[in-house]
Amino acid sequence: MNRILVIGAKGMLGRDLMDELRRSFPGDEVLGWDIDEIDLRKERETVGAIERIRPAVVINTAGYTDVDGCETNEKEAFAVNSDGMKHIATGARRCGARAIYLSTDYVFDGRKNEPYLEEDPPHPINAYGRSKWKGEQYTLELAGNGLVIRTQWLYGRFGKNFVTSVLRQAKEKKILTIVNDQIGSPTYTVDLSMAMIQLIQKKASGIFHVTNRDLCSWFDFGRMILKLSGMEEVEVLPISSVELDRKAARPLYSVLSTQRFKEETGNELQSWSEALGDFLSVLRQGWKSF
Ligand SMILES: NC(=O)c1ccc[n+]([C@@H]2O[C@H](COP(=O)([O-])OP(=O)(O)OC[C@H]3O[C@@H](n4cnc5c(N)ncnc54)[C@H](OP(=O)(O)O)[C@@H]3O)[C@@H](O)[C@H]2O)c1
Repeated sequence: MNRILVIGAKGMLGRDLMDELRRSFPGDEVLGWDIDEIDLRKERETVGAIERIRPAVVINTAGYTDVDGCETNEKEAFAVNSDGMKHIATGARRCGARAIYLSTDYVFDGRKNEPYLEEDPPHPINAYGRSKWKGEQYTLELAGNGLVIRTQWLYGRFGKNFVTSVLRQAKEKKILTIVNDQIGSPTYTVDLSMAMIQLIQKKASGIFHVTNRDLCSWFDFGRMILKLSGMEEVEVLPISSVELDRKAARPLYSVLSTQRFKEETGNELQSWSEALGDFLSVLRQGWKSF
């Protein structure tokens, strides 16, 4: 029996990942920790706790994920997203565990205008992206056979996200405004979890991009959410990122090429619109999302 440890197990991705790991590895022990069990900013506590339980695999889905919050508190962003991963990678190396780090399209500046490859040089334009890039480097330098999985635009049952926010606003307003100049691939946490399991089974290491297939703008995504939910009467007005005026800059085109994942696993994730359909049908079955 192997032991698989998820840190960030109460987060949006962490909860779906725990379910999928338990389903896929019934003979193994799947342990989940979050801030209540361990504060990964604390080096001795984190390294010691990992060494004590000696997992075969440690997956870090924890993070300071408030992108605008990171902009005003960059020190905290680095403490959680970079140093936290350094502590995990150190603990993993000491007990021979494989370390897996969840990273982001925000390591790129969005100026490439075609899908980013894993080997493209990062150039983050916000504090969150800078802190995640440093976390990637610790994973690859400190952990033996470390695996970095970059993904983007996540939504799922267990956290506040764009889909549930659009649905909530559509019940309250007749007109929504959504940015139409940022392009990416919305990704369902259940599909991502299953893809992560395939990479674990393949013992993959290095950097992999994993997202649902096809691309869109947040505006297209918002309209599809309303269409598939039978709320097409709600009007959506496109606005630009400049008009939205968020604290942190976002890359305008941050589509990730998933070719390497396809070559490694022989599989491709379903399109973002099919995945959205799956998620909305889960919500229709009475799941109370955040
Ligand atoms: N969401 C996206 O669109 C997206 C896109 C690309 C990459 N990612 C990456 O994917 C991963 C999962 O994202 P997510 O949206 O599922 O994140 P999430 O819902 O915000 O979950 C993160 C979890 O980490 C916990 N945490 C925060 N600080 C911690 C600490 N010091 N020690 C231990 N646990 C701590 C959080 O607890 P609290 O809630 O109590 O703070 C939360 O349970 C993250 O690494 C994120 O950077 C996310």
